[in-house]
Amino acid sequence: MMTLSLLKRFRPSSKKLGIAHDDFFNDLIEREYHRIISAGHTYLDFTGGNLYAKSQLDKHYSLLSENVFGNPHSTNPTSKLATELVDESRQKVLDFFNADDYFCVFTQNASAALKIVGECYPFTNKGHFLLLADNHNSVNGIREYAVNKHSTFEYCPIQYEDLRVNTDTLTELLAGKDECEQKLFAFPAQSNVSGVKHDLKWIEKAHDKGWDVLLDAAAFVPTSKLDLSKYKPDFVSVSFYKIFGYPTGIGCLLIKKNKFEKLVKPWFAGGTVTLASVQSQHHYLANNHERYENGTLNYLDIPAIGIGLDYINAIGMDRINERVSGLINHLCNELRQLKHDNGNALVRIFGPTEREDVGGTLIMNFFDKNGDLIPFESIEEEANAEMISIRSGCFCNPGIDEINNCLTTEELAKYFTSRTTGNYYDMIDFLNKMRGATRVSVGIATRSKDLDTFLNFAKQLLNRSTN
Ligand SMILES: Cc1ncc(COP(=O)(O)O)c(C=O)c1O
Repeated sequence: MMTLSLLKRFRPSSKKLGIAHDDFFNDLIEREYHRIISAGHTYLDFTGGNLYAKSQLDKHYSLLSENVFGNPHSTNPTSKLATELVDESRQKVLDFFNADDYFCVFTQNASAALKIVGECYPFTNKGHFLLLADNHNSVNGIREYAVNKHSTFEYCPIQYEDLRVNTDTLTELLAGKDECEQKLFAFPAQSNVSGVKHDLKWIEKAHDKGWDVLLDAAAFVPTSKLDLSKYKPDFVSVSFYKIFGYPTGIGCLLIKKNKFEKLVKPWFAGGTVTLASVQSQHHYLANNHERYENGTLNYLDIPAIGIGLDYINAIGMDRINERVSGLINHLCNELRQLKHDNGNALVRIFGPTEREDVGGTLIMNFFDKNGDLIPFESIEEEANAEMISIRSGCFCNPGIDEINNCLTTEELAKYFTSRTTGNYYDMIDFLNKMRGATRVSVGIATRSKDLDTFLNFAKQLLNRSTN
């Protein structure tokens, strides 16, 4: 039998939460995402990947089952239809981001978009790459292209207290490197770990100091409007499954038209040239998005991008944004209040206390009543057993994890110089330091009930002693 205090502890708290648009999203979820409910899932990994709506699948299925599509870029009727639908989706992407001044290059995902910039940015021994310590590894990896072409690189640190950038430091870094001829500055519009939205005004400030700007928008655009007529980075990376769940395997690189010629493609492939010769070793690269779309496009799935964007537009990005803010703020407030009976906190949430300009992502660690860390692996295991999908580790963003766990440059150097191969767990053993966290993220298909489920899951950890 449950005691009164246990009953109180497990009582759902969602009745009158006042989270924005509850009725609208409950109806939407019932209609479009019923499979989550019927399979008993609590899905809280929207930053990892969004969930698709039933109507997206139905529309795409009708399109494929009622038409005949051939490889685009030919005049035959099946090819023409495929070309038309790819062009239509491309235009919808440009409209979605208000990106009249941009080319939209379809890629496999955001990482492939970032790779194009890394590979083609004209780094030389007079080049410099500046990036925030808060970046996904697919941006961090660009430093290897820079180094291989004898450019330098530097990280702008992130503040331990709130995981935001220090304004003075970044201003100073952007004012430097006058002597460099190519300067690329990269930052995420939203951290995929802390959810912090970095100020898009840095784009113009960097431009004013002669930098080209790469904006990694992968974690931002699923729940926030990116208006590229207002903020004008030179290169923008996106993965579409993060916005509307289906299809996977398609992203895009948006290239500002006036920076198109700045990227230098080091090779050519099918579909990227207007002419190439075998006997005479010449080729002419295409003068638009085609230059970077190597080989045959995913022409059967690209029409589903248009369908997905129509779906999001019909809901409205403002509505999604308000909804997600309401959900994550509620979750954050409730988690912060969880205390063991001895008064010790159950959860430490990393990132800003003040939740303004933070998206629908929350990272945290759990502590037992003695203040000892409950390993994120056991949190995930216990969540799995309750059909709760969360994510843990460092989320391909080692910079934030190193900050949260106070790893020093010296410690990291000691580890990396001591071996030629390594991994996360080996490093934890070697340094005898904590690494990793638990991440919860919300989105279009999150119900208030899902938050209750997670909160009740967390409450089961109260008063636990791990040793
Ligand atoms: C901010 C950010 N950038 C880049 C990526 C890489 O995206 P993808 O794995 O789709 O290439 C992710 C994925 O989580 C991300 O969150």
